[in-house]
Amino acid sequence: MRLTRRKFAHSALLAGVTAALPAGLFSACSVSSNAARTAGSAAHVGPRARPFDTTSEIAFPRNFFWGTATAAYQIEGDWKEDGKGESIWDRFSHNPGRIKNGDTGDLACDSYHRWREDIALMRAMNLNSYRFSISWPRIQPAGSGAANPKGIDYYSRLVDALLEARIRPFVTLYHWDLPQALEDAGGWPNRDTASRFANYVEVMARALGDRVSDWILFNEPSAFIDLGYLEGTHAPGRNSLFDFLRASHTVNLAQGAGFRALKATRPSARVGTAFSMSACEPATDSEQDRLAAERCHAMANLWFLEPALKGRYPEALAFLPETAMRIKSGDLDKMRAPLDFIGINLYYRTLASAPGAMERLSHAQQWLFPVKMGSGQQGPKTDNGWEVWPQALYDVVMRISRDFNRPQIEITESGCAYNDGPDAGGMIRDTRRIQYHRQYLQALAQSIAEGADVRGYHAWALLDNFEWAEGFSQRFGLAYVDFKTQQRTIKESGRWYAKVAAENRVGPNL
Ligand code: FCB
Repeated sequence: MRLTRRKFAHSALLAGVTAALPAGLFSACSVSSNAARTAGSAAHVGPRARPFDTTSEIAFPRNFFWGTATAAYQIEGDWKEDGKGESIWDRFSHNPGRIKNGDTGDLACDSYHRWREDIALMRAMNLNSYRFSISWPRIQPAGSGAANPKGIDYYSRLVDALLEARIRPFVTLYHWDLPQALEDAGGWPNRDTASRFANYVEVMARALGDRVSDWILFNEPSAFIDLGYLEGTHAPGRNSLFDFLRASHTVNLAQGAGFRALKATRPSARVGTAFSMSACEPATDSEQDRLAAERCHAMANLWFLEPALKGRYPEALAFLPETAMRIKSGDLDKMRAPLDFIGINLYYRTLASAPGAMERLSHAQQWLFPVKMGSGQQGPKTDNGWEVWPQALYDVVMRISRDFNRPQIEITESGCAYNDGPDAGGMIRDTRRIQYHRQYLQALAQSIAEGADVRGYHAWALLDNFEWAEGFSQRFGLAYVDFKTQQRTIKESGRWYAKVAAENRVGPNL
């Protein structure tokens, strides 16, 4: 469980045990600014930070994809236009007290109307890939049944315009906005949701599969299952270990079923998932912490990947609560999905330590999955308190390449929240963001030089947007959005990224 992402909230289950641990047990993304303290960082002994080549210009492979990423709920707005159904995020954000400052995604960046402007931004940045997500309730307002033609039209026009702009449409099918009607029927803990998902995937494959070849089934399964069903800090706001366990298994089944539905409809489609990943390092060099780091890797990085590629839950976990997860015979085969690529969303590293005996005994989750996770403290912090640690990207890409036989990898997200706004001349001088992406790209280039098969890099995000429970308080964009006027302005980082993409190289002066 990640004890916090964006906001340092205590899970009822772990309260008192890991108050200083910003990352969760099952996923290791995002920590909040005031959560940035951790057990063990001083003694931490993970791989020593290596100096990547920062002095020369490094070329990326030919045909490398330079992209940005967004998600429907975070940018589209127009939450009930043209027949769109309610999603769990609509319901959640309309519930007072759930989102910082009472913000909602009702309008967000109004990309439902302004998508042409968004494409113009990408053209100006010389990008050749756009990772965006489809809002399931725009397509199936109640989560099943006939497709809403206006929803399909919207995405169809977007895809056509992208192709015309020579930008690859890289489509995420599920980026967290479940139709509320399916949540009312039990949500992800309900196994039936897996077949609903497969049906929706088939609808989209039929509608767009003649023009879209690259698909992402899920965005960060571990994040939305953890935060939504265990922590309750994200939609649908549930707080139950059992819901968490069941939802995990349903999503693994849905990944298998969705993969088969897509391939049955469009056999040549290239299909993957965007996993939230983090480099797990032991907090000290004790044997227990080293084992904890392996469990951290299993939970944070493999909980949804091994089921797909190996038809099993990660072996580093000594015990699997099969009954609580409602695993039935034959399910392990159903989870299999030989993904064509592995999408990696990576922002930072995680320090892992072993819980003590008392902690294990008094907390169900620590007993089930004995690992505590914290954030690193050595690197500089972004405005929301995440440690900048480029090596994490190198470490994870190398480990995944090694353990999964050099799969195709797409960096589906990486980025940073810096809240710089326009200066007197209207320029947004976000030099720290340039620094972030440059360093992560240098680390990535090193992994490619050492043999990893990385096909693309997608900066999160194209433009400032609605950052889930943090509302509009965190700006990740390469383009600035004035949320009063919806005016978009490319930041200095966007201009820099345009040069990198045009030259297919990164370097000290690039
Ligand atoms: C990732 C999410 C994405 C965005 C970034 C900052 O975990 O996939 O939607 O919120 O974090």
